[in-house]
This record gives sequence, structure tokens and C-alpha cells, in this order.
Amino acid sequence: MTGKFITFEGGDGAGKSTQIRRLATALAARRITVTLTREPGGTAVAESIRRFILSGRAEPLGAEGEAILFSAARADHVDCVIRPALARGEWVLSDRFADSTRVYQGVAGGADVRLLRALDRVAIGDTRPDLTFILDVPAAVGLARVRGRAGSAPDRFEGDEIDLQEKRRQAFLDIAAREPERCVVIDATQAEDAVAAAIWNVVTARLLGEEAA
Ligand code: TYD
Repeated sequence: MTGKFITFEGGDGAGKSTQIRRLATALAARRITVTLTREPGGTAVAESIRRFILSGRAEPLGAEGEAILFSAARADHVDCVIRPALARGEWVLSDRFADSTRVYQGVAGGADVRLLRALDRVAIGDTRPDLTFILDVPAAVGLARVRGRAGSAPDRFEGDEIDLQEKRRQAFLDIAAREPERCVVIDATQAEDAVAAAIWNVVTARLLGEEAA
């Protein structure tokens, strides 16, 4: 028995957290057991690494140093949370996963591609997503949403310049174009309900084997 593994990716302020919760609720209504998790994070060790990276203290290590830290967190997350949940037959929904490293540290940060592939082998092995949603918004829209969030200063990556954010957006779209069997791009400038409906249609068609609504 193995469950399904779905990841949500995209730039900052694309609305991933809201949409992942909505999908979890919709699946639970179908009596599917869902494990909802996020990266960096998902385990106690990985959450410590998250705080360290997002505070900006790892920035002097450069993109490759940060990629190594993200991957160490990911390895623990996969071993302790994702793989066991899939083995129990649960559906795992993760807010970000390995594509974020490929985009943020790889394409945008300049980290060596061979290093990133080697880190993937160690951290995730065969535990690859069945389905990845790329929530796509122009960088300016994502940035405006991040800045509109009450009560939190931008983290290590959210404060980056718009050109860099746009480069990340393009990098996510390139991954989707290269791996259409795994990735689906969702126009996340639409209203929240429309985005949720688009996601649900893909899940029902691809993973539940039903006709689109
Ligand atoms: P988070 O608050 O989860 O951002 P968001 O709500 O936009 O998902 O912070 C995660 C940040 O870390 C985000 O800016 C993307 C970045 N990140 C990487 O640079 N590499 C990675 O491998 C991962 C998982 C995240």
C-alpha cells in the first residue's frame, strides 16, 4: 500500500499555504487520510534548520551551503515523515519540496547542478512527488501579497529584488515544461475559489481517476 505524494511550488506570495489547506480539506471529505507538511521543516531538526536559514544567518555560506542545509532538512523530513506516511497509504501534501532548491539555490542562486543532483539522491532517493502544482503569479503580484501580510517582516528570500523573483518564476515554469507528467502550472492570479477548483480538477482526473467537474 502506498499513498500519493503531492507538492506545491511557486514563488513567494503565490498562495500555496491557503491552497494546500483547501486541498487537504477536500481530500479529508473523501475520507482520505492526509499528512500536511512543509519545507524547510516538517520535523524538529528540520524546523531548527528552517529558523537558521530564514533568519539569514546561513547567507554567508552561499547558495551551495544553503542547498546543503535545505537538503539535510529534507533528508530528515523524507525519512521521518514523508516515507512512513506514504507507506501507511496516506496522501502527503508538502508546501515546497526539492523543486524549490533547484529554483532558489540552483537557477537563481547559481549552485552547481551536479551538487544538487547528488543532494537529491541522498535526501530523497526514490521518494519523488506523484504530482506537483506550480502556483504561478507574476513576481510583482507575489511581492505585493507578501508585503501585505500583517505582522511579519520579509524572510531571507522574500526581500529579494523583483528581477530575481521573476527569474525564479521562469525557472519553475521551465521545470513544468520539462516534466509535464509530474507538474501542472496553475494561474494563481485567479480568485482563491477558482484556483482551488483548478487544483481539485487535476487531482480528481490524475489521482482519483474521475472525470473533471
Ligand atoms: P516560507 O515561509 O515557507 O515561504 P513561502 O510561504 O513563500 O513558501 O519560506 C521558505 C522560503 O525558503 C521561501 O522563500 C523559499 C525558500 N526555499 C529555498 O530557497 N530552498 C528550498 O529548498 C526551500 C524548501 C525553500
